[in-house]
Amino acid sequence: MKRIPVILDGDPGHDDAIAWVLANSRPELNILAVSTAAGNQTLAKTTYNAGRIMALIGLDVPLAAGRRKPLFGELIVAPSVHGVSGLDGPALPEPVRPLEDEDAVSFVSRVLEESPEPVALVSTGPLTNTAALLLLRPDLKNKIGHIYMMGGGITKGNWTPAAEFNILVDPEAADIVFRSGLPITMAGLDVTENALVYPEDIERIRCVGNEVSRVVAEWLTFFYGFHQRIGYAGAPVHDAVAVAALVRPDLFTFEAMHVEVELCGDYARGATVGDRLHILKQPPNVSCIMGLYRERFVDLLVEAVAFYGKEPRA
Ligand code: BDR
Ligand code: CA
Repeated sequence: MKRIPVILDGDPGHDDAIAWVLANSRPELNILAVSTAAGNQTLAKTTYNAGRIMALIGLDVPLAAGRRKPLFGELIVAPSVHGVSGLDGPALPEPVRPLEDEDAVSFVSRVLEESPEPVALVSTGPLTNTAALLLLRPDLKNKIGHIYMMGGGITKGNWTPAAEFNILVDPEAADIVFRSGLPITMAGLDVTENALVYPEDIERIRCVGNEVSRVVAEWLTFFYGFHQRIGYAGAPVHDAVAVAALVRPDLFTFEAMHVEVELCGDYARGATVGDRLHILKQPPNVSCIMGLYRERFVDLLVEAVAFYGKEPRA
């Protein structure tokens, strides 16, 4: 089977972690490297978490730390959602493989340079590293085949009424990426708020009965705890949608749209403004995922954890 080369960039984060559990389980993906963004927590914490997740799932590829701060402005972190560590919950193994000496932007540039074919970038945090790469190495644009990203929302925000967290943390970065002309698939809140894993689904995952399924169930329980307190019926596993859209596009519905990022404004900085009615007569720059088959998405997550050993409990 010809595998798709991918680089995972995220700010783990419970849902980033589950996205990586899914990516690593898929035979059609060839994960070349992992890089970290500052977002859910500081870069030091997200990088440590990345190393621990990779140790848990046996993902033995280079890990490089990205930029400490958004392109402009100060970092916003999300301890209310992911805890003080950025990945509170079950105990995890310590990182196995040492971190790369190079920063993520130079390291990923080298990986792209050396790749004989274009690589898919899967971004599940603020787009800081991807934007920095596009600014510093525009010559490598043709080595990026596609960007699958979690962020934004055409119909809603979550960190402000208008803006989703990943875009709000670094709107200028998102703007650079959205204007890049590269093919972009956006897993925004329109779909990810419906990518809910209910308590009974968490038990299905736990019952697969291996170490990864146990940890994923605990991550989901922690993540659901926050969301339950604010009225959700399940845990919205936002970031896993970006990976799922790459490996199982048949689980989703897409709308091609012209999307711009609001960079100013008193109320809407970081909003992703989608021209659903084609009022601006601009060509679409983003394929927005607007719907999903939720139960099949959950089946995909169950299948992913089963990859790590099939030992169903009696
Ligand atoms: C996004 O923000 C983070 O808290 C999650 O990891 C996800 O990437 C959802 O708005
Ligand atoms: Ca994330």
